[in-house]
Amino acid sequence: MIRDPEKPIRTRPLPDEYPGVHSMDEDEVEAAVRVVRSKSLYRYYGVNPQHEVSAFEAEFARFIGARHAVAVTSGTSALHTALCALQVGPGDEVIIPAYMWVSVVAAVVNLGAIPVLAEIDETFGLDPADVERKINPRTAGIIAVHMNGCAVNIPRLAAIARRHSVFLLEDCAQCVGATVAGRRVGTFGDVAIFSFQLNKNMTVGEAGAVVTNDEHLYRRVVAIQDSGYSRSDTDELQMDDATSYGWGRGVRMDELRAAVLRVQLRKVETTIERMRHSKSRILESLYPRQQIAFRRRIDPAGDTSCFLLTIFPHRDTAREINRLMRLHGITTKSPDTSNILLANYGMHVYYNIPSLVQKIGTGKHGFPWTLAENQNSVYSYERGACPASDDLFERTQLLVIPSCLTTQDEEDIIESFHQAMDAVLGPVTSMTSRLDQREYLTSPCG
Ligand SMILES: Cc1ncc(COP(=O)(O)O)c(C=O)c1O
Repeated sequence: MIRDPEKPIRTRPLPDEYPGVHSMDEDEVEAAVRVVRSKSLYRYYGVNPQHEVSAFEAEFARFIGARHAVAVTSGTSALHTALCALQVGPGDEVIIPAYMWVSVVAAVVNLGAIPVLAEIDETFGLDPADVERKINPRTAGIIAVHMNGCAVNIPRLAAIARRHSVFLLEDCAQCVGATVAGRRVGTFGDVAIFSFQLNKNMTVGEAGAVVTNDEHLYRRVVAIQDSGYSRSDTDELQMDDATSYGWGRGVRMDELRAAVLRVQLRKVETTIERMRHSKSRILESLYPRQQIAFRRRIDPAGDTSCFLLTIFPHRDTAREINRLMRLHGITTKSPDTSNILLANYGMHVYYNIPSLVQKIGTGKHGFPWTLAENQNSVYSYERGACPASDDLFERTQLLVIPSCLTTQDEEDIIESFHQAMDAVLGPVTSMTSRLDQREYLTSPCG
């Protein structure tokens, strides 16, 4: 019997993303209550200080394998703090990927520098060859964004940054816990940022961190997230260290959030394991399909697996397969956050950010686009600025892998993929495992 390719496979929406949320229980409640009972919710002093933020910073730094972590209020404030600590400003260009999140652009623009778009490759991160092409004497640094839970080609990008003496900032907001050859992302560049917003691998709703091995940068980060002055080991303001003077952004983390994050940090490996289990089941079933490819993972073992990116051969086939899978009921309660084509993934895609495309200034004088220091940095941000990325955005489907998928959820996803592909691309004739696909997925950092 021929099955109607549009007939639903399931009627209940799949669970929403929120990886860290699904593991929340009384442990987080107890941590929050403990802090409220102490009546000491400020990190630097109080009636009965708990030092939750300092403890979280030490534990998170140890988890990442870095010397220092500084907890802040969000991933966005972490980006601003890190770039400020690197002294980015007018006259500087910062290379960013065509696929990121709007906060990356905002941090560059708010400091008076000019973002320069570079193409992504099939890692869905910066294409190293295009980064090299975009470097010029005005380039201050590179922001590598590890999108969708998996590392980009960070060893190669780090080598490029070193060779050209520009900074490398790793944006690990979507990638807490990922590794490359056993080394955590966030330790390859000069500085890294993390987000603990609701959609992230560990969460307290809203928070972030800056991580670095560099002592001087660390002191500047401490100063900037606070009032402009660094702190001693006993949290005294240090007014006599002119090398770390800055202008404070007031983005300190509070004790309440740090206490909850300490619990989430203990659970993050389990959260990641759950997503890995679901994703590898789905991937295994799709490997035999010759007609499709997957996001290139420079180290599959280090993928935190919160997303599956599937690349179809043509724009039209991608649209049709996605349409059928959505009709099958492979959607979430928030319909625009899962099982969509990347082109429709909002302000993760450069040309979907109106204020970037239109070069909107931060004040009425058009800062930073109109600054004399930036007069030689004139770039277009309209669709077409990164044609190779544009093509990938049209052909790639993003599916969220929540940390609480049931076996039935996984089977529904697998069935939907196969039915949609049978209808659009034709059935597979041989189900032999596709060796070249596996090699492609595990290809080294070249
Ligand atoms: C890649 C990336 N960078 C930065 C951020 C900003 O983090 P936050 O939402 O905590 O400000 C996000 C948030 O989604 C992100 O995905």
